[in-house]
Amino acid sequence: MHKIFAKPLFLGKKVVFLPQCHSTNDELVSIAKNSNEPEGFVLYTDDQIRGKGQRGNVWVTEPHKNILMSVLLKPKFLTPKDQYFLNLVVGLAAIDLLRNYSEGNLKLKWPNDVYLNEKKIGGILIENNLRGTVLESSIAGIGLNVNQKGFNISTATSLYLETGKENDRTEIMEKFLVYLEHWYLRLKSSSQSIILGEYHKLMMWRGELRVFESDGEEFEGEILGIDSNGRLTINRAGKLLNFGIKEVKFVR
Ligand code: BTN
Repeated sequence: MHKIFAKPLFLGKKVVFLPQCHSTNDELVSIAKNSNEPEGFVLYTDDQIRGKGQRGNVWVTEPHKNILMSVLLKPKFLTPKDQYFLNLVVGLAAIDLLRNYSEGNLKLKWPNDVYLNEKKIGGILIENNLRGTVLESSIAGIGLNVNQKGFNISTATSLYLETGKENDRTEIMEKFLVYLEHWYLRLKSSSQSIILGEYHKLMMWRGELRVFESDGEEFEGEILGIDSNGRLTINRAGKLLNFGIKEVKFVR
């Protein structure tokens, strides 16, 4: 057990810290399914040895340097069709958080990879638990690279690499929870259009002519935004195409 986070209103009032675990999302799922844990329950670790990413990828980071946390949400107010809004609010919270530490170029690469100065600084993995048509619970997992000083891949970065400063990870987690709470409560009070507007402003490559790949074929197109199902809308030579997460890759 860990001390609670004082600043948020209802997130982080029950907190478990594990020095090491496989995946904070998996740990939180297994704890939450056997008991009636409160909304806002947070589980985090210093060393995640089987971190999960989107599209079945792994999330690998150096121990003791970064943020690896999962938050239990109970968004029963959302219809299954609107569950993608959780991705948007977690992404917006991550951007608000990082603005405290960097004046660099912060973007969300659809659906919700967090980019600073054209490099990936964070990733979000949301796992939803639907009972019938009710979104009973969601696990919002976030990995943020904070104090790591090097990466094997040239497309990854950390706050340290972008700003030259080390930061206190507990303080960052607490701030993140405050921003997440803010956006989550806006979602709950039906501010969908504001959330969509903010998300669209932050979308990486939006309005630029870029190269994408789908079904093994590369094509040029312009991101217009997301549709009412959260899919990516690309204008390909005047034709509007919508893609789900596994259906399109950003090439260059
Ligand atoms: C991605 O960019 O592919 C998403 C990465 C999400 C990683 C975080 S780290 C904390 C939480 N636990 C996991 O196993 N994954 C998420």
